Amino acid sequence: MKIERIHIKNFRALYDVELRDVPSLAVFVGENGSGKSTLFNVFGFLKDALKNNVSTALQVIGGFNEVATRGHCNEPIVIEIQFRMTISNVERLVTYRLEIFTDEHGIPFIQREILRYKRGRYGSPFHFLDFNKGRGYAISNEEDFDKPDEALTKDEQTLESSNILAIKGLGQFQRFKAASAFRSLIENWHVSDFHITAARQRVEAGVAEHLSESGDNLPLVTRNLYERDSETFAQILKKFRERIPGMSEVTTVVTQDGHVLLRFQDGSFKDPFIARYVSDGTIKMFAYLVLLHDPNPHPFLCIEEPENQLYPKLLGALVEELRDYAKHGGQVFVSTHSPDVLNHVEIDEAFFLKKENGATKVHRLAADKQVKALIDAGDKLGWLWNQDLLERSNHTT
Ligand SMILES: Nc1ncnc2c1ncn2[C@@H]1O[C@H](COP(=O)(O)OP(=O)(O)O)[C@@H](O)[C@H]1O
Ligand SMILES: [Mg+2]
Repeated sequence: MKIERIHIKNFRALYDVELRDVPSLAVFVGENGSGKSTLFNVFGFLKDALKNNVSTALQVIGGFNEVATRGHCNEPIVIEIQFRMTISNVERLVTYRLEIFTDEHGIPFIQREILRYKRGRYGSPFHFLDFNKGRGYAISNEEDFDKPDEALTKDEQTLESSNILAIKGLGQFQRFKAASAFRSLIENWHVSDFHITAARQRVEAGVAEHLSESGDNLPLVTRNLYERDSETFAQILKKFRERIPGMSEVTTVVTQDGHVLLRFQDGSFKDPFIARYVSDGTIKMFAYLVLLHDPNPHPFLCIEEPENQLYPKLLGALVEELRDYAKHGGQVFVSTHSPDVLNHVEIDEAFFLKKENGATKVHRLAADKQVKALIDAGDKLGWLWNQDLLERSNHTT
């Protein structure tokens, strides 16, 4: 499953932003306040809306009037995501559209929720799921491609409330193929909100396969990898040693009161350091290695400013790992303001964000003839960014 296009309307500074032909690794660069975090927040919002409901998800980030673009509270928030997925052995381009608005009392509700794709080579896209204020239908025999449109079974449904996503209500039923696939994409996407202090802490013993969004289960994931996938663990350790001078071993210990903590062995000392006493960059590098070598990668991963706390020379290898992760099935979005990261990014992977009259505009750098010519002549994106040459890019995607 891969995201091909994203169209966002009326979500904070993203008044009308469309990304087309989204690559497997997409890197978003821009000054402070240009809208990078806001773009990633859209994905966090959607995950939260699915887990809870739209009102709760909006409340957490300030409520509808705060989230809608300033001066546009009388317009709906629209999130449209187009992705490729295989249904009945045929690859389809599926579009999910969500429109959120408020009623006269300021209560948010889902104005429209649609899932559509073309059934055949010709014809207009067919709505497999179409809900309006909590009522609508989903097609329950969508895999019957040989049947005419009239023969598809429309399963009429009324949701518990108009702020619950239909893909939540119906998505657990396997017979709604596209709905359950999209639901599981959202449930499994990882919008990193990594906190070094959280990753340093000891945690109650338990089992964890994936690193959590805050990184607070790092000791458990490390222990799990060490015990169940020694090959991956050895690979992580090898890279870690190469990148952090002096580092020789990472181990986990279980304390008497049932907590797991990480220990880092520096070759120069006899006793290892517990995670609380190693540097920020050391913890972060280790956590990224664990995240990016996940034997079961997330279908979609968002990481904000991976450069923070890391030694600039390590960033090239990190970009390479992000690209590898994207190649092996998981799509990756990264935001950055580091020339060192950008120097390792391909022009087709790069998007430049800038504010124009208070609204974020996204420019695809490959579409800028001057930037493209400079890159073709051997320049690197980070160098151009340092010379303020990317700011002039004026091709919206
Ligand atoms: N409702 C809103 N309408 C318009 N702009 C907003 C709204 N809410 C926040 N903003 C602006 O959007 C910007 C958010 O930028 P942010 O995504 O954090 O940027 P970055 O991560 O690139 O530094 C800020 O400049 C903020 O003032
Ligand atoms: Mg930010």
